[in-house]
Amino acid sequence: MWILEESLSMAKKLNKKILITRKFPHPLLKLLDENFHIEYFDNEDPLPRKTLVKSIQDCDGVVCSLNDKLDEKLLQQSKRLKIISTYSVGYDHIDLKYAQKSNIVVTNTPDVLTDSTADLTIGLLLAIARNINIGHSIIFSKKWTESWSPNFLLGSELKDKTLGIVGYGRIGEAVAKRATSFGMKIVYYNRTRIKKSIENLHNVKYSTLDEVLSSSDFVSIHASLNSDSFHIINEAKLKLMKSTSYLINTSRGSLIDENALFHSLENCGIAGAALDVFEVEPINLRSKFLKLNNVVFTPHIGSATNEARFRMSDISARNVLNFFLGKKPISIVDF
Ligand code: GLV
Repeated sequence: MWILEESLSMAKKLNKKILITRKFPHPLLKLLDENFHIEYFDNEDPLPRKTLVKSIQDCDGVVCSLNDKLDEKLLQQSKRLKIISTYSVGYDHIDLKYAQKSNIVVTNTPDVLTDSTADLTIGLLLAIARNINIGHSIIFSKKWTESWSPNFLLGSELKDKTLGIVGYGRIGEAVAKRATSFGMKIVYYNRTRIKKSIENLHNVKYSTLDEVLSSSDFVSIHASLNSDSFHIINEAKLKLMKSTSYLINTSRGSLIDENALFHSLENCGIAGAALDVFEVEPINLRSKFLKLNNVVFTPHIGSATNEARFRMSDISARNVLNFFLGKKPISIVDF
């Protein structure tokens, strides 16, 4: 067992206890086990709430995932907690206000999953533009009975189409860069406009959210979820989109009002959607969404590559290690 063989002796461990809420990829466990006393749950699934509440109480730090809800009620009972290191870029599962009030540092894993998430977004964009999922289902359900046909499954080229990006952070920018290489025109909306010189460099145009929605052939959401961005795409916003346009979401489900999206998709308000994230995950298998044939689904896999997950693991552990060694964690969430 490499963990035991490579661990430093107990005497060299820092006198702190770290909760690791589930089985994260290598090297997190090794790094933390070498340096701290750990409470480790070897589960693929999230911890039941009761176990989380009980286990966190005597811990100085926690490495959690986006499924662990670290709300005020839980944090109130975690009197020893000094650092929350989330194995995710998003931190909407953590009560930041309460953490700040209680001097708990929150860290996350930005940058290292940008390329993976941008790649998936482009994959979804191509899938909806070219009916890849429908083609796959036709073959899989043995319904491809005619050979090549001139009018069969006609999609849309990406060249000269407009991609609207809502939320121009790291991932939005990486998507824009990839889409530009397909010859797409990029318009973006962000809470704060980026510098003109950067817009020129990236060849992107700033617009209001309404303009982005009404002028785009594809709209991709890359905002982070908070009280201001909750349901940023609602019924009124969907009505602004062209009936020929597509919506992609690889960020957080609650950025979109799913009921409104369902009605828009069902009534041809927009042409289709590609969704990696949902208001409730996993998606209910009886969800009305699953009856629609103009949606491509993936199960929240934006950062699911070996490369990204390894780096997320390394950073989540080093954030904790740095903190207790009195150094600056690699990526602190700004309150
Ligand atoms: C994934 O959704 C993440 O926030 O890292």
